[in-house]
Amino acid sequence: MKPYGDIELQRRMVSDRPRTNAFAAAIREVVRPGDVVLDVGTGTGILAMLAAKAGARKVYAVDATDIAQVATDLVKANGLSDQVQVLHGRADELQLDQGVDLIISEWLGNAAFAEGMLHAVLDARDNNLTPTGRMLPSKVRVLIAPLDEPILYNTDGPGFWRQPIHALDFSGLQEVELSQGRTMQIRVEPAAVLAPGQALLELDLLTASADQVSSQRQLEFVPVRDGVLNGFCIWFEAELSRSVLLDTGPFSPETHWAQTYMSFAPRPVRAGERLELSVDFFYDPNPTAVRRDVDVCLGVGERELSYLIE
Ligand SMILES: C[S@@+](CC[C@H](N)C(=O)[O-])C[C@H]1O[C@@H](n2cnc3c(N)ncnc32)[C@H](O)[C@@H]1O
Repeated sequence: MKPYGDIELQRRMVSDRPRTNAFAAAIREVVRPGDVVLDVGTGTGILAMLAAKAGARKVYAVDATDIAQVATDLVKANGLSDQVQVLHGRADELQLDQGVDLIISEWLGNAAFAEGMLHAVLDARDNNLTPTGRMLPSKVRVLIAPLDEPILYNTDGPGFWRQPIHALDFSGLQEVELSQGRTMQIRVEPAAVLAPGQALLELDLLTASADQVSSQRQLEFVPVRDGVLNGFCIWFEAELSRSVLLDTGPFSPETHWAQTYMSFAPRPVRAGERLELSVDFFYDPNPTAVRRDVDVCLGVGERELSYLIE
């Protein structure tokens, strides 16, 4: 992955209109005149500057990488240096002289938690938020839905190996590829979704601890049509304010996260039948963990497959 100091990466985030517009609308709704605000992982400083324009008295904007200098320059260029103070350092080590009324952070990765900025946000909260303070986003949910996606499975996925190749049999590789548990961030066509998505976990950012992210769930889906189950997709929703929900699912406008696609061993399904899925979602709560990926294990009937979301 590119370093956050890379301007192209910052452009990918800022130009993601559903993302940036949702944060901008929520900031206008949530910031109260006179608030002291902390923006965790400020990047270009965009959310910090929007908070200042929404009436915050003071905004601390922290970033661990060299992008902090870019944010400092942009704050100055926009005439907001009196309100916005950019700090170059780790948010998890930040201890401000005064408590903050609101923490804003776009810390979200694939399946919400891959990438691992959650710890920085929770530590910044524990060290700096006043007892009556607020969080933006306030809640985050991870959802999963079963798919019948023939192209992603048969052409770009493990099903490819089922056809003879120059009259040679490669079909054994279907199982090998399935067991390697690869995931892909890709836009899933709404027509591929076999049943409405269901939440596999929900986190309240005001009270959450990192060990609440991992969860084990038994979910029951009812397919809306006959088809072949050959994959699942995971995405997240973030409640940014009372009226703004950032939904990164297949039925919402496309964001740079897209959805996390996971191929699964094919099985026919009928409309109206009960499809039981066991989900084991694991995120290492250890703040010093080197890996910040998410491990997911999915089980349908006797079949279990494991995946790594990066
Ligand atoms: C997803 S970007 C969001 C940038 C910006 N807030 C926006 O919405 O466009 C996350 C930012 O958090 C910063 N970051 C990651 N871990 C951090 C940490 N522990 N402390 C401070 N900043 C961090 C990265 O350098 C990056 O600029």
